[in-house]
Amino acid sequence: MHFGYDDYSRARQGRDVPVVWEADKLINPHILICGKSGTGKTHLLRRMIASAAGGVRFHVFDVHSDIRIAGESRVVFSEATRYGYNPLVLDTDHHTGGVRRTINRLVRTLNRTSRKLGDRQEAVLRALLQDVYFLNACYDDNPKSWCKKEIDEAVRKTLIDARRYPELKEYYPTLDDLVGFAERKLKAMYLGPEGNGVGNRCVTALEETNRLTASLKRLTGKSARAGDEEAQGLETRISAAKARALTAFEEYLGSIENGREIDEVIKYDSREVLKSIVDRLKNLNALGIFRPTRPPFDERAAVWVYDIKHLPEDEQALFVHFRMQDIFRRRLAQGVQGEVREIIVSDEASRFFGDEPDNIYNVIAKEARKFGLGLWCASQAPTHFSEDFLTTVGTKILLGIDSYYWQSSCRKLNIEESVLRFITPQKTAAIHMDRKGEVNARFKGVQLAG
Ligand SMILES: Nc1ncnc2c1ncn2[C@@H]1O[C@H](COP(=O)(O)OP(=O)(O)O)[C@@H](O)[C@H]1O
Ligand SMILES: [Mg+2]
Repeated sequence: MHFGYDDYSRARQGRDVPVVWEADKLINPHILICGKSGTGKTHLLRRMIASAAGGVRFHVFDVHSDIRIAGESRVVFSEATRYGYNPLVLDTDHHTGGVRRTINRLVRTLNRTSRKLGDRQEAVLRALLQDVYFLNACYDDNPKSWCKKEIDEAVRKTLIDARRYPELKEYYPTLDDLVGFAERKLKAMYLGPEGNGVGNRCVTALEETNRLTASLKRLTGKSARAGDEEAQGLETRISAAKARALTAFEEYLGSIENGREIDEVIKYDSREVLKSIVDRLKNLNALGIFRPTRPPFDERAAVWVYDIKHLPEDEQALFVHFRMQDIFRRRLAQGVQGEVREIIVSDEASRFFGDEPDNIYNVIAKEARKFGLGLWCASQAPTHFSEDFLTTVGTKILLGIDSYYWQSSCRKLNIEESVLRFITPQKTAAIHMDRKGEVNARFKGVQLAG
């Protein structure tokens, strides 16, 4: 990629020295682009993608639907198109994968990118996920069972309509399975096993017995004689309540099926907590981005554009984080690479950055280079990027930062204000590239071309 010409050589020596970006000469293929609105971040991303495409697969997260590249394959993600990825697909790597770790990752991503779950809600969600994986014959202590097929909505519907339930076990569970399972648990909590209300009747009769006995105790404690008649009345009612409790318990014992009924009540906490999780899961499911209908990207196209303009910001973050984790895991599975194979492009990246070490942006910045994965991010100010990314990224391009951010930018990037003063948006930029075998690289003034 040709950015333009070195300003110093042109102005002082009267010769044009091109400034180019060559991934194999740099310490890593990651790029940071920084400039306020209208300075040309998206324009530059477009140029860079177009010039690097060919041999490299680009994953472009397009939040404004304004990154068009010739030959791209674009998929619009929204509640209407309902393309998505199943978040319950297991990571099958022996070191990073399995049921427990996949559940942890799911819960963490949910907590980070949308409204945080309470402790009790989180415990219930974990229990639900464990049970759903168990039902689909995925066991944490058996890595062979982590490998399943990925179902899509049409296949799932065919199998269910034909009541071919055992075949569902050949696939990973889906969010639909999780919602259905959680709803059945919720109903069982209201009605008892088999939906006949027997659990409820046990508890009601037991509570009534306790309440009446306590009243009787209070009465006889006050005065032995005063409430004789009242006491007798209470005793009759207590006997009746005990009889009801006995009948209900007998029935309950008869209806125990798997011996785990009481564990389930404990595991799934209260109806309120379970209900709140069911609601949350239903909302997630309604978004569409987690439905198992694979987006129809064209395998032959080098540039895949994920058009997420129509998703609310919370859901954009969920989507981008899940998708990037997936891309990174697949890259890891392919092993070490001699050159760049895939590049993730994230415009308006401030929405997705965070300082947590396990935020996928930081993980990719630090660990993805040798697996042939690059990350290009654009945002308005250096403070928007995480420290991990700022201190790792091999190429930094400044297109014009608002003076409001100058002080913090100079500190973050360890530069003089003169570097920022030099920039005239869309004409000149300051570019810093860390080349292999070179130390103390500095920002260079560049006269932009195109
Ligand atoms: N180097 C450039 N030369 C000419 N026009 C440019 C250049 N950079 C940006 N533009 C134009 O300026 C406008 C804003 O650019 P854009 O990339 O959308 O900015 P940003 O993404 O930083 O908000 C667009 O119309 C774009 O085509
Ligand atoms: Mg833009």
